[in-house]
Amino acid sequence: MSALQLLWVPVLLCLTHAWFCNGACVEVDSDTEAVLGQGFKLGCISCKMRGEVPASATVDWWFMAKGESEFTHIYSYADLTGYIMDDRFDERLAWNGSKKTEDVQDGSIYILNVTFNDTGTYRCFFDRTLVFPNYEYRTNATKFISINVVGKATRGMASILSEIMMYVSIIGLQLWLLVEMVYCYRKIAAAGEEALRESEAEYLAITSESKDNCAGVTVAE
Ligand SMILES: *[C@@H]1O[C@H](CO)[C@@H](O)[C@H](O)[C@H]1NC(C)=O
Ligand SMILES: *[C@@H]1O[C@H](CO)[C@@H](O)[C@H](O)[C@H]1NC(C)=O
Ligand SMILES: *[C@@H]1O[C@H](CO)[C@@H](O)[C@H](O)[C@H]1NC(C)=O
Ligand SMILES: *[C@@H]1O[C@H](CO)[C@@H](O)[C@H](O)[C@H]1NC(C)=O
Repeated sequence: MSALQLLWVPVLLCLTHAWFCNGACVEVDSDTEAVLGQGFKLGCISCKMRGEVPASATVDWWFMAKGESEFTHIYSYADLTGYIMDDRFDERLAWNGSKKTEDVQDGSIYILNVTFNDTGTYRCFFDRTLVFPNYEYRTNATKFISINVVGKATRGMASILSEIMMYVSIIGLQLWLLVEMVYCYRKIAAAGEEALRESEAEYLAITSESKDNCAGVTVAE
């Protein structure tokens, strides 16, 4: 492989897996519909403003059940260790965020065996310290996620419709491409024949003209 070809490898890796590239952090919104009895990933990503600056962060999660009016602290993650702070989530929360680093940008957690009581609003809080050569800078970020627990996995009409539309447009585009290719091919073939015929006709016309009108003039060939 040439050096130029090798250059494409990280580019492709980056496109397919944004996480491979340092600093290419993307703040994706969490899902909001959990299914009873199954696991659910509460997503919370907070990207560093300056990807290249070393940092460390702790993450805390709060929960306000539907009908309650205050948040309670349910989970804390610091120094590569997570702690469950609330009995309702005993043995039911697992860290799903950045692994093996104190420089946490993904603070997601995973709820096991979801119950209807898990319905409510979750608050995710990042406390981050950016370490510059001569000083440290502390920032924080907060996100709210409203979770709805359903008995069975449902798919919104919009999601089903958009999938159908996707297939329709893919097939439509392919057909259009095919038609266009056939059309172009035939057009080119026809044009080729036409050109051939035309040049033949022209040749005949010229030769006959030169015979008819240009008697006495020799046409150089
Ligand atoms: C999230 O945590 C669950 C439970 O520990 C685990 O099964 C799953 O593989 C984790 N997923 C990621 C992406 O870390
Ligand atoms: C979650 O559910 C599974 C199977 O239903 C069960 O084996 C497991 O003990 C449950 N875990 C918790 C923490 O409730
Ligand atoms: C849900 O909450 C109600 C009221 O607080 C409680 O009685 C019930 O046991 C809880 N259910 C589960 C599965 O934790
Ligand atoms: C979060 O940051 C703001 C300023 O950016 C500060 O006023 C606030 O006290 C911080 N909150 C906590 C809990 O550290």
